[in-house]
Amino acid sequence: MRVSVIGTGYVGLVTGACLAAVGHDVVAMDDNPAKIAVLRQGGLPIYEPHLAELVAQTTRAGRLRFTTDVTEAAQDAAVSFICVNTPPRPDGDADLRYVELATRRLAEHATGDLLLVEKSTVPVQTGQWIQKTLALYAKRPGCTFDVASNPEFTREGMAVEDFLHPDRLVLGVANPRAEALLRELYAPIVEGRFACPVHPDCRVDRAVPVLVTDLASAELIKHAANSFLALKITFANAVADVCEAAGADILEVVKGVGLDKRIGRAFLNAGLGFGGSCFPKDLRAFVKIAERTGYDFTLLKEVTRLNAARQAQVVEKLRRALWILEGKRIGLLGLAFKPHTDDIREAPALALAQRLLAEGATVQGYDPQAGAKAHEAVPALTVCPDPYTAAQGAEALVLCTEWPEFATLDFARLKAGMVRPLLLDGRNALDRDALTALGFEVLGIGRGRPPVPPARTP
Ligand code: UDX
Ligand code: UDX
Repeated sequence: MRVSVIGTGYVGLVTGACLAAVGHDVVAMDDNPAKIAVLRQGGLPIYEPHLAELVAQTTRAGRLRFTTDVTEAAQDAAVSFICVNTPPRPDGDADLRYVELATRRLAEHATGDLLLVEKSTVPVQTGQWIQKTLALYAKRPGCTFDVASNPEFTREGMAVEDFLHPDRLVLGVANPRAEALLRELYAPIVEGRFACPVHPDCRVDRAVPVLVTDLASAELIKHAANSFLALKITFANAVADVCEAAGADILEVVKGVGLDKRIGRAFLNAGLGFGGSCFPKDLRAFVKIAERTGYDFTLLKEVTRLNAARQAQVVEKLRRALWILEGKRIGLLGLAFKPHTDDIREAPALALAQRLLAEGATVQGYDPQAGAKAHEAVPALTVCPDPYTAAQGAEALVLCTEWPEFATLDFARLKAGMVRPLLLDGRNALDRDALTALGFEVLGIGRGRPPVPPARTP
């Protein structure tokens, strides 16, 4: 099927590359000429596991092309995915100007029947606005336009895997024609008919559940799913605070709670708080959407408030340990908003860096992928070439993002470079007992139960 994606960011590029990988003919369009130039030269403007190989394979096979020209994206396309960004406005509402622009341009340049699919997270009822815009700007008589909402549930760092092996597909449609087209588009994924780039020997045991709904419900599913996950994390963070005060260990508590099948263990990792381009923004947008319907979503307002307080709590913890922060050197391990990505949007690590800098501390950090972006966003943060340099001369080291490689560092070497071996594990990702035995003073999040003291040597 001939498909186009508008916007080649984290969402659009994954959508385009994955649809090309399962056999479709994809044109990926972006207004940013620098991005398209990089992609045409075989580079990738972002880091996302497996994506570089997938883009290389599909472009070589002639199934994925990049352009800045919207006419190319609209021409002969049967389905067009809108993957432009929807940044928050100062009042929390999503700014939909790029969605409108993309719609308008597709309406003007479509050469045949076209199904427009909302992939970007948009407020409920955006579908209706897209439909109206299409009717207003359509140029060619006889073209039929349909609109669908097909929210993405892909996690950055796992996006290729999530796209090709989704838990479910949500198809919000207004008529059977749109449903049929989307079912045909996703058939290779639903039935597992593709060569998996992530697990070459992977077998799909069951068909992916497909939920067909009306447009508004599909739009709301995305908001409700993201808000619930953010709520779940915030709940774990709140329980962690109680654990810390009560002498309990959050890791044991969430293990026990998560074994309940009705709850599950996922997204109960307490820490520095959630970040990224989705949860913080989508929560604010959902509160706004609810407000417009007359519902005051105080529950989600509180989630936002509690999450924003997480980094300040870590600063307080450091202050309790170090007393004066001014003039002290503090190292940060991990700067991206989560592991396996170079994305720093709303990264808790950078919010923490800014708070520490405001206290007069010297802050130095390391991230396997996000260093350059982090330095650009917070120029006062010194970005180090490796974790050992980030620990050098530090009075405290904070693990902000749980990249797996941090668990296997040479901690003796790390400690040797530090002025004081204080390690604050902001994601409870490290082996606290082993580090304590090595002579580190280890602080965690919600770990009220003291670490096992090192065994005495006779
Ligand atoms: C995500 C999600 O899609 C969305 O649900 C969320 O609301 C915002 O963030 P993402 O792919 O991560 O989007 O955003 P980004 O990496 O900023 O990519 C958007 C792309 O669209 C950019 O490459 C930008 O250049 C492009 N764009 C934007 C256009 O080509 N034209 C426009 O008019 C606007
Ligand atoms: C999220 C949703 O998971 C995905 O379905 C949607 O399509 C886009 O938004 P993403 O933002 O890429 O994905 O990452 P996610 O894995 O959800 O993590 C978001 C934030 O929550 C990160 O900062 C992460 O560190 C934090 N988090 C996650 C926790 O603090 N604790 C957890 O238990 C899980």
